[in-house]
Amino acid sequence: MTGERPGGGAGPDEQVVQELREAARAAMSRAYAPYSGFPVGAAARVDDGRTVTGCNVENASYGVGLCAECGLVSQLLLTGGGRLTHFTCVDGKGELCMPCGRCRQLLYEFGGPALIMETGSGLRTLAEMLPEAFGPQELP
Ligand code: THU
Repeated sequence: MTGERPGGGAGPDEQVVQELREAARAAMSRAYAPYSGFPVGAAARVDDGRTVTGCNVENASYGVGLCAECGLVSQLLLTGGGRLTHFTCVDGKGELCMPCGRCRQLLYEFGGPALIMETGSGLRTLAEMLPEAFGPQELP
């Protein structure tokens, strides 16, 4: 597992993800989820040290709703771009929430297979969570 240490202490990746968990909780508090009642907050570290976040934004036309990760990738580009290195996502209780399949694809575009994600089984790469992904490398 990425970041695991023989002594059991938190490695650098765990420390980053702990910070991101707090940023994701703050983002979750701004979610607009009146239809599902399921607020979500997402946070990621960028390779220049920035943190970007997003919350879900639902709509009366249910299918138009935006996942938290949509806002996150928009903020990434609006604030200067770069590559995502670490990611986490929380639900309304502030507990881990795994990104849906579509959002794993969104993350793949800007983090690639090496993106480190918090999961129910520790830190894993996006390559593990979206194996054999379709991505920019397939296109000319
Ligand atoms: N949701 C996200 O924001 N991100 C995910 O990866 C999973 C689902 C949102 C969409 C919807 O507003 C709510 O959670 C319930 O599905």
